[in-house]
Amino acid sequence: MSESPPIHELHFEDAPRMETPIPGPNSRKLLRRQQEIDSGAVAYPLSVPIALDEAKGATLRDVDGNVFLDFFAGIGVLNVGHSNPYVLEAIHDQTERLVHTIDFPTEARIEFIEKLNEIAPGKLKDHNRVVFGGPSGSDAIEASIKLAKYNTGGHGLVAFKGSYHGSTSGALSLTSGKKYKKHYTPLLPDVVHVPYPYAFWDGGDEDELAERALAEVRSTLEDPYGGLANPAGIWVEPIQGEGGVVVPPKGFLRGLKELAEANDIPLIVDEIQSGFGRTGKWFASEWYDVTPDAVPMAKGVGGAGLPLGALMYHEDLDTWGPGGHIGTFRGNVPAMRGGVRAIEYIQEHDLLSHTVDLGEYIRSRLTDAMADSPYLEEVRGKGLFIGAEFVDAAGEPNKAAVKEVQEYCYERGVLVWTAGRHGNVLRLLPPLVMTREQAEAGLDVITEAIAEQAAGGASTGS
Ligand SMILES: Cc1ncc(COP(=O)(O)O)c(C=O)c1O
Repeated sequence: MSESPPIHELHFEDAPRMETPIPGPNSRKLLRRQQEIDSGAVAYPLSVPIALDEAKGATLRDVDGNVFLDFFAGIGVLNVGHSNPYVLEAIHDQTERLVHTIDFPTEARIEFIEKLNEIAPGKLKDHNRVVFGGPSGSDAIEASIKLAKYNTGGHGLVAFKGSYHGSTSGALSLTSGKKYKKHYTPLLPDVVHVPYPYAFWDGGDEDELAERALAEVRSTLEDPYGGLANPAGIWVEPIQGEGGVVVPPKGFLRGLKELAEANDIPLIVDEIQSGFGRTGKWFASEWYDVTPDAVPMAKGVGGAGLPLGALMYHEDLDTWGPGGHIGTFRGNVPAMRGGVRAIEYIQEHDLLSHTVDLGEYIRSRLTDAMADSPYLEEVRGKGLFIGAEFVDAAGEPNKAAVKEVQEYCYERGVLVWTAGRHGNVLRLLPPLVMTREQAEAGLDVITEAIAEQAAGGASTGS
């Protein structure tokens, strides 16, 4: 190209634009057909009943011609927007030439690994290796479990309450959400979930909160009766995503790194949701000046939504030799070309600072709305990783309120999502290419939803 169009050229115009009530007639038909033949496991259309047709940038059109502003980005996958032409060009080119190579070298693979090194967090830069296995975030987590076990000889895994690390058995063992795993136990043995500092519910000042959480980890690892005999590593989200966009206090990640070092085990920082520019840094661990020993990544990594999971780790841990981690799809070449282009796009358009600015703007609009809402109690996040916590009149988690806001928004052409241990957190993960004007239009709707709710007083319980 190659043209790298500015962000305001990437979208459908005039979003949001509604042509029908939701769901429109064509969506209804497809939803019905899906229900007849698709798996009972399908979940997303139950929350937002639309069928999709086409998407561009931060906008998305359903099969009835309704155009939505997308504050969700396929759960934080489409960081450079839907169908970014600069990214697609390279993907198309590669797709026509060579798609599947397992792990034979290609220009695309080598360039992608070099590009990942360019954005590697902290001291991993120039001192890392990258392994590919399966294409999902869960696969990258599985790789990290194997890496940690291989290098330490241990098998105990330390993870956190409120965590989500994926849906395969190892990743599910690290995940704390019971609803995801209750039908599939036993999973991996020797997994300990310690409390993640959650200021909204735990209270206390930053340092105290961090110290309390670290004390639990220290006791698990170092107390002679701490319970975990052969630890292999600590897995942590630098900001918990599914758990409710929970931002830990400042010293927490650093303290974890020190504990990992003291106990000679790796700190694995799961950047699957928080990485690839989402928080205004390439990786959220950079906000805390901490270099992870290993970083599972996926979601945005394939550039255009092509599946690509990867584990970056310190070169000293590269001890496992050929076949140490494998998988037929350990080299989706078009996704790697897409990944390089996505990084270039973010660099060329200075999207990390845009992400910080736009995130501040969105949080300020939500904070203003909080003043008049008895239900919205906290707004938090970093960059475009944003959460808003809703409670009921008794101060308990209020899932119903978030559902109402979500519904009000999609009926008016704004897609927002939920998170939180009780489903009571409104989660916004817009593409980093969302413009200020789009954010303003979207926040007009979201804050109106919050105000309407306050006026109606409908949501008194979860
Ligand atoms: C922090 C985190 N880790 C792991 C995963 C699992 O990724 P995947 O769904 O691609 O397997 C997710 C997915 O949402 C995630 O948010």
